[in-house]
Amino acid sequence: MGKYVVTGGAGFIGSALVRGLLAAGARHVVVIDNLLTGKEKNLEEVRSQIDFQRADIRDYSAIAPLIEGAEVVFHLAAIPSVPRSIEDPVPSHEVNVDGTFQVLRAAAAGGVGRVVYAASSSAYGGSEILPKVETMAPAPQSPYAVQKLAGEYYAQVFYRCFGLETVSLRYFNVYGPRQDPSSPYSGVISLFIRAIAERRAPTIFGDGEQSRDFTYVEDVVDATLKAARARGVAGKVYNAGNGNRYTLKQVWQTLERIEGVEIAPVYGPPRAGDVRHSQADVTAAVTDLGLQPRFSLEEGLRRTLEWWRAERG
Ligand code: UD1
Repeated sequence: MGKYVVTGGAGFIGSALVRGLLAAGARHVVVIDNLLTGKEKNLEEVRSQIDFQRADIRDYSAIAPLIEGAEVVFHLAAIPSVPRSIEDPVPSHEVNVDGTFQVLRAAAAGGVGRVVYAASSSAYGGSEILPKVETMAPAPQSPYAVQKLAGEYYAQVFYRCFGLETVSLRYFNVYGPRQDPSSPYSGVISLFIRAIAERRAPTIFGDGEQSRDFTYVEDVVDATLKAARARGVAGKVYNAGNGNRYTLKQVWQTLERIEGVEIAPVYGPPRAGDVRHSQADVTAAVTDLGLQPRFSLEEGLRRTLEWWRAERG
């Protein structure tokens, strides 16, 4: 087995992917992370099995030698969050667009076998039609969505113009262990998990009837590993979700049921740039990649709660 590179490998999803690669037998895993949102702690028990490189994806000369000759580059490094991209658009643009360009450029120059790019369900934006199919016209409604979509277009163009094999996966609201609830931009489930564990009310922006295809991190790791191996998928874009849809109210109620408590949420104004509903059509990913989501929302939430409690002793 060759060299595998994970950009953003110290992040929430990246560190789960690193574990997935090691579990699948990879022996040479290079992690590129600038530790802006990633944390070395996320890689704690696997640290000795990987080659950790603190580098910024915007810095071509730093990343090019690390990427050169890789069998697969998993490009997950990004500044996530829709509201963050609205409040502070410059860093997210630079990392998500310019950084992605530098990773693709280094991969093309370095003879990389394939790049799997972490794209986002936010590309679908406000379109009312559900579920979201890859053939729909994108309708981004935040800088973050535009940035992630630009990365997809770049990935496709690097295949068409430079022959670099790329596959983009539109991740749908990923949650699970190691998702950090400590930033105002944290994913909603990480915030809900902390709130229920501490027996506090969560804040819901809007009426709580907005819905998402919440996807457990191990299902997304599985999809990502499959995208690295699948044949005939170069230059393509796939949904990586599980095809379900839950409202925020339902997520909170599920947590209340699991924990056997009742805590009324606090409601705040709707968030700018928010998408109303999101749900993946996974037909193409099932057919072409062999996608096989395994975790129900309840099972995923139980596991995430278990991790939260273990972390905090
Ligand atoms: C979006 C993308 C997702 C991407 C993520 C990166 C969509 C459909 N999804 O997630 O693919 O990975 O950005 O950051 O565009 N909320 C509350 N209370 C809170 C926090 C959030 O009610 O304390 C609400 C938000 O207003 C939103 C929902 O929860 O309606 C989900 O928010 P969040 O977890 O931030 O993710 P998205 O913006 O949906």
